[in-house]
Amino acid sequence: MSKPTFYITTPIYYPSDNLHIGHTYCTVAADAMARFKRQTGYDVMFLTGTDEHGQKIEKKAADAGMMPQEYVDHIVDGIHKLWELMNISNDDFIRTTEPRHEKVVQKIFKQLYDQGDIYKGEYEGWYCTPCESFWLDRQLKDGKCPDCGRPVQKAKEESYFFRLSKYAPRLIEHIKTHPEFIQPVSRANEMLQNFLLPGLEDLAVSRTSFKWGIPVTFDDKHVIYVWIDALSNYITALGYGSEDDSKYQKYWPADIHLVGKEIIRFHTIIWPAMLMALGLPLPKQVYGHGWVIMDGGKMSKSKGNVVDPVMLAERYGVDALRYFLLRDMPLGQDSLFSNEILINRINADLANDLGNLLSRSLSMAEKYFGGIVPAPGEKNAEQDEPVLSLAAALPGKLEELMNGMRLADALTLIFEYTGALNKYIDVTMPWALAKDEANRTRLATVIYNLLEGLRIVGVALKCFLPDTAEKMRTQLNVSEEQFTWESIFSYGGMCPGEKLKKGAALFPRIDVKKELEELAELEAASKAKAQAADKPETLPIKPEITYDEFEKLDLRTAKVLAAEEVKKSDKLLKLTIQVGDNQRTIVSGIRPKYTAEQMVGKTIVIVANLKPAKIRGILSEGMILAVGDEGVDALLATDAPVESGICVH
Ligand code: ME8
Repeated sequence: MSKPTFYITTPIYYPSDNLHIGHTYCTVAADAMARFKRQTGYDVMFLTGTDEHGQKIEKKAADAGMMPQEYVDHIVDGIHKLWELMNISNDDFIRTTEPRHEKVVQKIFKQLYDQGDIYKGEYEGWYCTPCESFWLDRQLKDGKCPDCGRPVQKAKEESYFFRLSKYAPRLIEHIKTHPEFIQPVSRANEMLQNFLLPGLEDLAVSRTSFKWGIPVTFDDKHVIYVWIDALSNYITALGYGSEDDSKYQKYWPADIHLVGKEIIRFHTIIWPAMLMALGLPLPKQVYGHGWVIMDGGKMSKSKGNVVDPVMLAERYGVDALRYFLLRDMPLGQDSLFSNEILINRINADLANDLGNLLSRSLSMAEKYFGGIVPAPGEKNAEQDEPVLSLAAALPGKLEELMNGMRLADALTLIFEYTGALNKYIDVTMPWALAKDEANRTRLATVIYNLLEGLRIVGVALKCFLPDTAEKMRTQLNVSEEQFTWESIFSYGGMCPGEKLKKGAALFPRIDVKKELEELAELEAASKAKAQAADKPETLPIKPEITYDEFEKLDLRTAKVLAAEEVKKSDKLLKLTIQVGDNQRTIVSGIRPKYTAEQMVGKTIVIVANLKPAKIRGILSEGMILAVGDEGVDALLATDAPVESGICVH
């Protein structure tokens, strides 16, 4: 009989920068799920990848002086390395610049156009470049992007539109009749209340304002909107629409799209509507996870509050980082990251509870039984019962929690069991039993229960901490068959008479104070480096003018005779200036860079023929030339002994 299938995806990441632990969080969670399903008998397809088109990438590449493809290739290399380091067991990695993806996206677009679900129109609205999203006036929040809060630009262009509005009633119906479709449930209400019930607009699905995208085959001025491109990855990676669509046939519909909460909207509105239009089944579930937050906000490169997963993995080990992300950050909610929480978690759970349990148990087995697994003998129901019943209940409970995506609770459960095993040592006091030969068979039972408990814990941890589980298997010296998921449904997998192989401590204890100091130093150094690299952007050059237009400007030297502050303004100075034979007044926003006293006596440059204008009730006749993108950094002034009223060119 063929195995049941399980298809899980992460979002495909923008290769615009190095990924941080927020991205790692999602991928590690999906990896733990994928491993768990494989372990429990599923034929798993686990997909991740990169979302490589769009204006944002085009601009980043240009800033870096590279062609977009060269730019993304370089970053995608780093992403591959990160997932390798983090032990991510993805079965495929899709890049949206691969022909297998691009060709099929073009085909999908054409099909939707041919069947009338895509039509040509004109778009007028606001565009948020970082989010690659168009917004209508009423959707803006305080005039800014409602998703990220950044400024938006007015945009008007010819565009193809997808008839999203047509699918709204079916979508509402689907969400209402499939409570498992959007998880956690609160997110489903959010989608209904905020987007679906107020009414959907048709969606602009092509762009003409930039080039770095998949061209529309029948109108090559247009590139396909990145979200239409990106969302399709979930089926193009399976070979949908290609010569070999066997994976699509086997794995679609996806069991879970695991995504961050800010992109649920795309996955539960645009994506299902596209699938409906294509006549394809919808994913069974879209799970929206919370954010890793720091200093009160979402960890993100643009805020400069990111933590580098490579640095943490190198310092504490990949499994310590995986453990922290999965144990301390319940999927459905936002979770705070701090170095202190991380280190305390590693020390308490991994070094103390788990690491000590393994090393103490193996040391005792060595000391009392020569490093050989003893055969259990005398029982003591009162002492043994708590650990035996936890062991018996563990696999069933774990399966239930994992199927509900409750990864943090699953780890809590496993560590309750390690806690109980540690307590078992305190209660049974093997060192006291060892003093009397009459207690030999009782001592054997205690050591056996500890070793068997460790085997069960090791199997349960496999999907979360694969390297640690493997180290436990090696030290317990059991075969892979004795370390399978099925093997923990019956008690007694450790075979008496077999030799153990005590090894190094699983997780060395960390000196909290020293470590926090070192991390603070590292962070300060990396912030300083980032600031140094963060040069201000050069403003774009204004549209070209002719020489004749330039000639109309009359630039002159002027001498400041007097200066005073304009009342009720912290920026303006009123200057009395001499321009040749004339005196005139100019009001200029050069405070607080220059005080009234500093200005008197200066020879500056003015636009002498600017039409006079009233500023704060004072007639200002001309404009002072100054340097600065926004404010005033410096004046164009000269120390040379020049007269006033001389031409400047
Ligand atoms: O959104 N905590 O890509 P992306 C938790 N390309 N998760 C975080 C996070 C944080 N601090 N910061 C980011 C995109 N993420 C699109 C997806 S899918 C068809 C296209 C998560 O690189 C974020 O929530 O900006 C999202 O799910 C994922 O990283 C990718 O973000």
